[in-house]
Amino acid sequence: MVQTIIVVGGQWGDEGKGKIVDFLAERADLVIRYAGGNNAGHTVVVNGKKFKFHLIPSGIVHEGKLNIIANGTVVDPEVLVEEIENLEKMGFKIDDSRLIISSNAHTILPKHREEDNPKKDPHAKMIGTTGRGIGPCYRDKIARKGMRISDYVESSNSKIAEKMKPLVKDTCFIINEAIEKGKKVLFEGAQGTLLDVDHGTYPFVTSSNPTAGGALTGTGVGPTKIDAVIGVFKAYTTRVGAGPFPTELGTEEQTNKEGTWDKIENVYDEALKEALEKANAGDEYYQGKYMRLKGKEYGTTTGRPRRTGWFDAVAARYAVVINGMSSIAITKLDVLQGLKKIKICVAYEVDGKRTTNFILNTKKLARAKPIYEEMPGWDEDIGDAKSFEDLPRNAQNYLKRLEDLCKTRISIISVGPRRDQTIVVDDNNLF
Ligand code: GTP
Ligand code: IMP
Ligand code: MG
Repeated sequence: MVQTIIVVGGQWGDEGKGKIVDFLAERADLVIRYAGGNNAGHTVVVNGKKFKFHLIPSGIVHEGKLNIIANGTVVDPEVLVEEIENLEKMGFKIDDSRLIISSNAHTILPKHREEDNPKKDPHAKMIGTTGRGIGPCYRDKIARKGMRISDYVESSNSKIAEKMKPLVKDTCFIINEAIEKGKKVLFEGAQGTLLDVDHGTYPFVTSSNPTAGGALTGTGVGPTKIDAVIGVFKAYTTRVGAGPFPTELGTEEQTNKEGTWDKIENVYDEALKEALEKANAGDEYYQGKYMRLKGKEYGTTTGRPRRTGWFDAVAARYAVVINGMSSIAITKLDVLQGLKKIKICVAYEVDGKRTTNFILNTKKLARAKPIYEEMPGWDEDIGDAKSFEDLPRNAQNYLKRLEDLCKTRISIISVGPRRDQTIVVDDNNLF
């Protein structure tokens, strides 16, 4: 029986972990954020209502679950209290039976936010950070100059600190006790494997460990207690912020020039139609633009357009290995509908050599050229598919090929943003 599951992003974040966590949270007792802070943006759609979370675990929309912001995270008190108050306005009662924060999490202070400003600081600009003070806060933690949340609430008598105080606990004991009692625990990853400070495309990464290892140090749970690791991947790839992206379609400049979502919204239908026509005529930039428009690939946190590209099986296989994934979830399969041909990157060519291993040297990775395999697409709308067999043959073949290349079983397929647009194909590694 599976009692503990870690959900991790297999790409550069925004894989739709929020939706998968929400789906699994139904059967969980505890939902825990273990790394990162309000740089994350999870979107969960419940009963037609859209919830956006940056810091609070996505399990909060379910009744009777304990949500934990664990020690590996960095917490901006203002953002946390704003999220709590927004939930309260919507009628949720937030107390320590529903949400607790680790005394050992670190505090994002105003000085961290000021420093991490891509408009002013050339380094933040170069990385393309979310500007939320994440990097400077983790830096101070590692330099042993940081402020833990326990110290923050003790030393401040602000309204914000007062509101937080009853929620601050030594969470490692609570989590381990729950595991001993047989409770089901879901570890909710933020960001993704390729943004991991150790395993990602350094320096174009975040400052924490979003990978499965981070769920252990980030909560104080030992590796022998983990039953399953589910890796979430989009059926294609996106990246927000700077850094190498071998399967990118079009250039980062072209994408950024399109501007934020509010500029597209009014002309959406025509833009989507134009993108599909040009994509199917073979224009690579428009193939990427079609994914961006159809998948609404605009940052939850910053509104920035996300860079888009084909599924990169070389990077995906690396993510499977680094995290020890027991199965994978493929999201946003519906977005590929309409494209006549779909490509999968099966190897890279770099400096005249072919490799199927991911390249850890970031400068070298930036020179890698993707080697593609091409598969036929499908025209049918798959949003109502309830089983693998309901999917068009070409979609089935595409998924089977992804499984082969990742050398891992697919457990979940997502065909739309809603909770009921989720197909479980293998529940061996689920609660
Ligand atoms: P990060 O922690 O920021 O990496 O977030 P995330 O992985 O939770 O993803 P995020 O919510 O930023 O982006 C996913 C978006 O896709 C959300 O708007 C979801 O509602 C939406 N979504 C999730 N699954 C599907 C799907 O299968 N199809 C479609 N069309 N949209 C989906
Ligand atoms: P930081 O985490 O704000 O320091 O940003 C570092 C890099 O990680 C930038 O490229 C960000 O765009 C990226 N990043 C951070 N959080 C997320 C996320 O939740 N989804 C996608 N990218 C992210
Ligand atoms: Mg996101």
